[in-house]
Amino acid sequence: MNHDATPSNTRSHDWKVHGYVAEYGDVDSLIHACEKVRDAGYTKWDAHSPFPVHGIDDAMGIKPTILPWIVLGGGLTGLLTAFVLQWWTNAIDYPFLISGKPMMSIPAWIPVCFELTVLLSAISAFLSVLVLNVLPALYHPLFNLERFKRATDDKFFVSIEAADPLFHETNTKSLLASTHPAALETCMEETKQAKLPIAFHYVGALATLLTFIPLALIYKARFAKSDAPRVHIVWDMDWQPKYKTQKQAKFTGFADHRTMRQQIPGTVAWGDDPDASPLTTGKDAAGNWINNFPLQVDAQLMARGEERFGIYCAPCHGLDGAGTGTVARRAEQLLAANKAQGWTRPASLVGTLEDARLRRDTPNGELFNTITNGKNTMQGYGGQITPKDRWAIVLYVRALQRAKFLPDADVPPELKDKLAGK
Ligand code: HEC
Repeated sequence: MNHDATPSNTRSHDWKVHGYVAEYGDVDSLIHACEKVRDAGYTKWDAHSPFPVHGIDDAMGIKPTILPWIVLGGGLTGLLTAFVLQWWTNAIDYPFLISGKPMMSIPAWIPVCFELTVLLSAISAFLSVLVLNVLPALYHPLFNLERFKRATDDKFFVSIEAADPLFHETNTKSLLASTHPAALETCMEETKQAKLPIAFHYVGALATLLTFIPLALIYKARFAKSDAPRVHIVWDMDWQPKYKTQKQAKFTGFADHRTMRQQIPGTVAWGDDPDASPLTTGKDAAGNWINNFPLQVDAQLMARGEERFGIYCAPCHGLDGAGTGTVARRAEQLLAANKAQGWTRPASLVGTLEDARLRRDTPNGELFNTITNGKNTMQGYGGQITPKDRWAIVLYVRALQRAKFLPDADVPPELKDKLAGK
């Protein structure tokens, strides 16, 4: 039962023992043999089977490898990289306010963090498996044994390497013999590794040099000018069967040969106002701001204006129009606590004794226009408030202004005593 493998092609190389290889016909014998070798204390040995064998790890005494820790490290590195990258770019290097979210908005960062965690975990798992197993290996001394080929077919093997500190020419062999193998062989390996043929080095060097050509071409393209037409790789994307705007159509479907069709009569484009009038623009026919009201002014309109002002304007400008609404006060708090930046205070609609710009120098039409289209940092409310309601608000703003700096003559006589505190 004891054939020593005599390599068929010994060439001029010296041979030494790589190890002993025992062959078994079934899984149970393999497991028993493994338990014996494990209990004898060997470390450089292996079991070979055509398929995964349950319980072989225990039988071989294989401890968990370091791989999970490497993958954990890779994953954490990915997580940290994603987090720091987003934190640095979003919150530090170029602070960019998005929808009023905090600068450090972690929920928005989760997809990138997740992706990088998975990516680096997978890459480190893949590379570590190769490195830890010394792969890829194109050659292994065990392949010198003809018999060993059946390790991928129907036989099971245990191999103990001569490099194991416990390896002993006779003791190791008798240990394996005591496991009742179907065959026991000595595996030889060459003492010297054959050299790679010199041509491989040349081809390798040449291939490395060739990889620089695309880089050099890209680099050159950044500076050089050329009259040659560009290379078209995807033809049907560069030349699509389509017409561009404002061009002549070659096909005869349309008598006027325009690629674009004319508007259907009566079309109103977004932003167009076919019935522009002082009521909707705040301007007269000459284009000047009007300073009256283009609709009937009555108590009903005033009441409507008060209500609409409370809904649309008071949050910022305050119920009295002085510019200290709840939004403004909250913003001032955040500013004071250094939690916000870039805030423009809502204007005081009533002004002060000296500053009468909005009170006296701004025509009704211009106030109306400010509500419609906004001004500077204030957005327009034209899309939300109907023209009639906008005029109602203008009317109410006028009332607020008047109430703030009430001319003496305006105060009803019966209230004068009350005001004077009598
Ligand atoms: C979200 C807060 C906010 C709301 C709501 C708001 N405003 Fe303003 N408004 C401002 C701010 C801020 C300014 C100052 C804009 C600037 O100068 O950059 C301003 C300025 C103004 C001005 C002065 C424009 C000028 O000529 O200087 C008027 C008038 C005005 N708002 C009217 C209104 C009216 C009427 C409403 C309700 C329909 C309203 N605003 C709703 C924030 C607001």
